Amino acid sequence: MKVILYMAATVNGYIAREDGETPWSKEEWQNFSKMVKSARNLVIGRKTYEAMKENDEFSKIGNPFMVIVSSKSLGPGVTTVGSPKEALRMLKKEKYETALVAGGGKLNSSFLKEKLVDEIYLDIEPLIFGKGIRLFSEDDLDAKLELLGTKSISQNTVQLHYAVLK
Ligand SMILES: NC(=O)c1ccc[n+]([C@@H]2O[C@H](COP(=O)([O-])OP(=O)(O)OC[C@H]3O[C@@H](n4cnc5c(N)ncnc54)[C@H](OP(=O)(O)O)[C@@H]3O)[C@@H](O)[C@H]2O)c1
Repeated sequence: MKVILYMAATVNGYIAREDGETPWSKEEWQNFSKMVKSARNLVIGRKTYEAMKENDEFSKIGNPFMVIVSSKSLGPGVTTVGSPKEALRMLKKEKYETALVAGGGKLNSSFLKEKLVDEIYLDIEPLIFGKGIRLFSEDDLDAKLELLGTKSISQNTVQLHYAVLK
């Protein structure tokens, strides 16, 4: 199973403002939705889950099979697992060919640190924030990437596609 990390970020590597706001372009959102609809699943951290739920975003991306990583139980009807590896085991069991990991910064770090990510799609939005939530929350990371491609998804937004070298 291929593990893809898909994120939008500012030019200086923030994935949300300090208060959690994500003012991304319509084109970025459409591109993300397309990717989710193709993978039919989404692996996210508990904080991202809460932000998406509050904004009623699941139906807009086609109600994918959601796997939430958290140390807590999030109640009936919410598929919650205690670690990134467990999330992947669950998706494998359900016969998904691709696992789509989509943040936030803490979950991204966990996946990268455990060397579980095969490819990264990064949509660079034409924004710079002074403060915010980082693409990877941890400092203790070291990964080498290979550029597989670039694409303009609008006049202002470029998508970088990387393989993570193992
Ligand atoms: N730009 C984008 O494309 C994008 C995408 C997604 C999210 N975001 C933004 O990112 C922000 C959230 O990011 P965040 O870094 O604060 O939080 P996050 O990664 O979404 O969630 C963190 C929580 O996930 C759980 N978790 C993460 N790694 C774990 C592990 N290895 N084992 C067990 N549990 C683990 C923990 O939940 P518990 O505390 O419950 O144990 C942790 O507190 C939101 O504002 C969201 O809007 C932006």
